[in-house]
Amino acid sequence: MKKVLVVGASGATGKLLVQQLLQQEIKVVTIVRVSSTLSQTNYVQPNLDIISANISDMTTKHLASHLEDCDAVLCCLGHNLTLKGIFGEPKLLVTDTIEKISRILETINADKKVKIVLMNTTGNSNRDIPEKPPLSQRSVISLLRLILPPHVDNEKAADYLRLHVGQTHKCIEWVIVRPDGLTDEENVTQYKIYPSPIRNPIFDAGQTSRINVADFMSNLVINSELWDTWKGKMPVIYNQA
Ligand SMILES: NC(=O)c1ccc[n+]([C@@H]2O[C@H](COP(=O)([O-])OP(=O)(O)OC[C@H]3O[C@@H](n4cnc5c(N)ncnc54)[C@H](OP(=O)(O)O)[C@@H]3O)[C@@H](O)[C@H]2O)c1
Repeated sequence: MKKVLVVGASGATGKLLVQQLLQQEIKVVTIVRVSSTLSQTNYVQPNLDIISANISDMTTKHLASHLEDCDAVLCCLGHNLTLKGIFGEPKLLVTDTIEKISRILETINADKKVKIVLMNTTGNSNRDIPEKPPLSQRSVISLLRLILPPHVDNEKAADYLRLHVGQTHKCIEWVIVRPDGLTDEENVTQYKIYPSPIRNPIFDAGQTSRINVADFMSNLVINSELWDTWKGKMPVIYNQA
């Protein structure tokens, strides 16, 4: 049975992702803040282990103990949309978490490649290809970098995987999933995956339901052909109109 660690599991997308992984009979470990509703729930599910801790404060040893036998790490972390969440510490919540997890995976040095799936945004370009968004979009993104720390965090987290882990790491492979404007739907609907945005994420954003993001992220872990198609890339996901 596959085992995965989900961070950001108490969030709007993370919760849906955990449900979908459990439905696929994957063993799931989540690390959630004590204050989160998921931490306070008495939800008993044999394949779900809820660790109450703040990922930023966890010691390397504690986090390593939960990563040791994982096949994949899925990250739906994001800054809460409050003044404290957007402008407070930790400013690099997602980047620091991805770096911390990657460094631990390197030291565990298991005899297998561990998959990291990072939920990101179409507002972040894939500079590996490289993508060249129009000037209007680049100007707004430059401004967002100055005024919105979470945007910088999203870019840096993806950069860590692109540039530090890279394409030929001995024990880590990754996919960075980029939804467009997030929406909430009850059920998975048809969606399309593209290597790069097909719409302008600032001036002509499309829609991506969180449940479709969760479906794609869980399928990446389950379906090795899908994984091979997108590993080392930054696929963009849109609901199909
Ligand atoms: N909004 C959009 O349209 C959009 C579009 C594309 C991409 N995105 C990206 O998608 C990602 C997830 O979106 P979402 O709507 O599912 O997010 P969300 O519901 O806000 O969930 C955020 C998750 O991060 C956790 N978190 C926040 N601050 C934390 C901290 N300081 N320490 C530890 N955990 C913390 C939350 O835990 P608690 O429950 O404890 O607060 C929660 O589990 C974000 O990175 C966002 O940038 C958003």
